[in-house]
Amino acid sequence: MIVAHGISKAFVGRKAASVVALRNVDLCVDRGTFVSLIGPSGCGKSTLLRILGGLERPSSGTIDMAPGRGADATETVKTAFVFQDHSLFPWLTVLDNVAFGLRMAGVPKAVRRERARMWLARVGLAGFERHYPEELSGGMRQRLSLARAFVTDPDILLMDEPMGSLDAQTRLLVQEDLIRLWEETRKTVLLVTHSIDEALLLGDRVVVMTARPGQVKLDLRIELGRPRTMAITGERAFGELKAKIWEALRDEVERSLELT
Ligand SMILES: Nc1ncnc2c1ncn2[C@@H]1O[C@H](COP(=O)(O)OP(=O)(O)OP(=O)(O)O)[C@@H](O)[C@H]1O
Ligand SMILES: [Mg+2]
Repeated sequence: MIVAHGISKAFVGRKAASVVALRNVDLCVDRGTFVSLIGPSGCGKSTLLRILGGLERPSSGTIDMAPGRGADATETVKTAFVFQDHSLFPWLTVLDNVAFGLRMAGVPKAVRRERARMWLARVGLAGFERHYPEELSGGMRQRLSLARAFVTDPDILLMDEPMGSLDAQTRLLVQEDLIRLWEETRKTVLLVTHSIDEALLLGDRVVVMTARPGQVKLDLRIELGRPRTMAITGERAFGELKAKIWEALRDEVERSLELT
């Protein structure tokens, strides 16, 4: 689904020296795979996501989306973003927030309302259709963001620390929601997170990045069974994977602290 090759990105400052955010990143993601991306602050995770989503151009490197689709290869790949700050529209109701993407895609009103309702029910927000985002809790808003991303049936979901602003317990609930939604839909997902637990809980793969300039340091296949629940965090295999990831990450976090 995604073949990114030799991606580099330098930001040229006006006064400040230029910053090389990414250097020579190779990343291939199979269709229907959930990839967790973890790395020290400032290593270029958001930049990589923005490049893959077409919001930013790489300085060099190539990106091929949905290769090998044969006749469909020219079809545009639909991407949906979920950000930490929800980026919901405060002036639209919960229902209209979810239906917005469908409206942009020209889906008829009755159909988009029905689909939006269905997704709100799937994330546990049935009954809140006529509320406004500010009337929801942080966890509810995050579930609303998930509904909004899934409703358009995207080929690829790019999530940048979507649970970063939630308190620890709400975060566990939304993580469970996301596991369930993913297991039902099997979308291609790239999730940026700072939590090793979250990366492992959700991912089929965990990609660890180096300190800036970001490169892929470790690409680990996560052979934990599905369907997954929080219970796996207590399993021995989980603990071993966690130790392995921290071992790779630790030096990079230390190095990134020296950089700043
Ligand atoms: N638009 C921009 N202009 C200039 N520099 C930028 C820009 N966007 C990002 N950078 C720089 O690129 C580097 C990588 O930033 P990025 O936001 O991708 O990191 P990150 O891994 O997402 O960090 P965090 O975990 O803190 O979110 C940083 O040094 C940042 O200062
Ligand atoms: Mg970021």
